[in-house]
Amino acid sequence: MGRIRVLSDQVANQIAAGEVVDRPASVVKELLENSLDAGATRIRIEVEAGGRKLIRIADDGQGMNRDDALLAFERHATSKLRSADDLLAIATLGFRGEALPSIASVARVTLQTATVEDPAGTSLEIAGGKILRVEDAALPRGTTIAVSDLFFNTPARRKFLRAEATELAHVTALVTHYALVHPDKHFELVSASHTLLSAPPVARTAERIYQIFGKDTLAQLLPVAAELPLERVGLPEPPPWKKDPNEPPKKPGTLRLSGFYSKPELQKLNRNSIYIFVNKRLIRDRLLLHAITEAYRNVIPPTSSPVVLLFLEMPPEEVDVNVHPAKTEVRFRQQSLVHDFVRDSIRNALVLSRPAAGFLAALDNAPLASPSLMPPAASPLPGSPEAASGNGSIDSTNAAVFELTPKTPPVPARLDFQEAAKGSRHPQILEAAAALLAGTSGSSSASTGALETAAQVEAEQAAANLNHLRSLRPMGQLRESFILATGEDGLWIIDQHVAHERVLFEKILRDREVERVQRQHLLMPLLVELKPAQMVVFARIAEELQQNGFEVEPFGPQTLAIKASPVGLEGAELEQTLAEIIEQAAADPDERPSNQPLIPLRTRIAASIACHSAIKVNTPLDPARMEWLLLELSKTDHPTSCPHGRPIALLYSWKEIQRAFHRI
Ligand SMILES: Nc1ncnc2c1ncn2[C@@H]1O[C@H](COP(=O)(O)OP(=O)(O)OP(=O)(O)O)[C@@H](O)[C@H]1O
Ligand SMILES: [Mg+2]
Repeated sequence: MGRIRVLSDQVANQIAAGEVVDRPASVVKELLENSLDAGATRIRIEVEAGGRKLIRIADDGQGMNRDDALLAFERHATSKLRSADDLLAIATLGFRGEALPSIASVARVTLQTATVEDPAGTSLEIAGGKILRVEDAALPRGTTIAVSDLFFNTPARRKFLRAEATELAHVTALVTHYALVHPDKHFELVSASHTLLSAPPVARTAERIYQIFGKDTLAQLLPVAAELPLERVGLPEPPPWKKDPNEPPKKPGTLRLSGFYSKPELQKLNRNSIYIFVNKRLIRDRLLLHAITEAYRNVIPPTSSPVVLLFLEMPPEEVDVNVHPAKTEVRFRQQSLVHDFVRDSIRNALVLSRPAAGFLAALDNAPLASPSLMPPAASPLPGSPEAASGNGSIDSTNAAVFELTPKTPPVPARLDFQEAAKGSRHPQILEAAAALLAGTSGSSSASTGALETAAQVEAEQAAANLNHLRSLRPMGQLRESFILATGEDGLWIIDQHVAHERVLFEKILRDREVERVQRQHLLMPLLVELKPAQMVVFARIAEELQQNGFEVEPFGPQTLAIKASPVGLEGAELEQTLAEIIEQAAADPDERPSNQPLIPLRTRIAASIACHSAIKVNTPLDPARMEWLLLELSKTDHPTSCPHGRPIALLYSWKEIQRAFHRI
């Protein structure tokens, strides 16, 4: 007798469940997506014991009739695909016809559903994949699915579940994400009769951000929107026998981007605060993460991450969503086009908006910010690589460790945001998360007051930018280090060293681009001693150094003679710059920690030269020189932060001043 057997449906479903359902949050994800696909406008999610005991989702979507309700639990049964051709243009969140049978094979499920067309609704019960009961019931239109005792029949899986609080945090993160992308729908998340999230419909994403994260977070974010008409390159054509000659050729459509990006002073230690949605589907995508990092290059340090909410819309045939069982990854048909579009849109927005760092905000935002917008334990997507590697739960105190050594098993987090907020250098966001969990945020009242504040925050943001730097009037220096200047919007404090550094940095890169770096010849060559290993590094980068204005020649086995240098670099500074460049190049590329992006040698050289030749602190400047510096700074692409990510100019706004004097 042969040894090969066909698996029973129940076993096949449990295997599929292994891919699709790995924790309560992934059940919530599948059910939530089904509700959204069914056109629901109001979705209520209830969980008990972090979802381990119970997950109940009620929606007001189109519902199912009795036959469909039974079919929904069959493997590969879906209303969303008909033929293989449909796979090329998937417009719904689900399409595999796998979620419900998978969930029903590892939990006890009850379903209540009704449509408007059918006179009676249906109530049915399934446990471990077996239908126990089906009956008619009088129900309103919509669907309620309750999933209890998750993994009751697969103890091995159950063991992998984390503490209730961790699972609850994952569920919260997930619902929050979907609430962000559907501001027009009503979301409610309740855990053991506490309301964790209550977000009534609002008109705009900004208002939803306000409902969920509060005013402080919204104040640090700026809106971005862009679009790009697509060309019909290489789109699959139907075969000739399927082509309808009368049908007009399909339009290639448009690539649209909207969302929010953070001001440079808001920096995160990892990428957990970057949310990417493609056609309203939450995904993790290396390509887009890279595009966002690129957009912020030289604006924030390469080790930091911004906060970005990115919503991309494109014709469904432009993106393949069928590449991951949990549907958390996608593949773009025109990868580099999408990458460059995202990078350039955000970069342009940054250049145009030139957000000024608020004086008080900059105080709070010391370079080490909290690890994520969301409660730290809640950040990774279920089914995403982070979640799989067990990095789902870190607390803010070990975030730095996490950043440097991503493979270290994390310390399990407690879901105690009040505690976390105390220890955090960036309390307001954690507070927002805490409020979110305690149900006390602005969320429960999306009153007109909230909406007004959101609009007001936007208006204030629009005013506080660095576009009118050139019209500032410098008044003098503070300790010969900071320029004080007045403008329409308030009092400005400009760090003279980093301001000049930014000016030089961009100039050096520009000059280098056209191979016109200005050099000065030294009267006497400057001799520098190097270690043998450093000589090797020098040989590797000698040409790039030369292109940047250094004229350096070997002068004996361990000595270099500098004959000319970039303009502005002299004496000890020159020697230090060269040492710094060689030292940095030595650590590159092999010894670089793998989580740090490769920064081109050229950029690092420009940053070093700029830093060492810029006006120092404790240097007196006359009014003409101060004016010159502000003017030059105003011409730069990124007058907001130095190449290392520190703010350049702080604004003590007129509003803040009036408030501080109790005048308003
Ligand atoms: N909340 C709901 N309201 C209305 N119909 C639903 C709902 N949930 C599921 N269905 C129906 O049940 C079918 C099966 O759902 P299931 O989630 O198993 O598959 P899917 O959504 O088609 O694909 P995927 O496995 O990718 O999620 C759906 O195609 C849909 O027709
Ligand atoms: Mg589904």
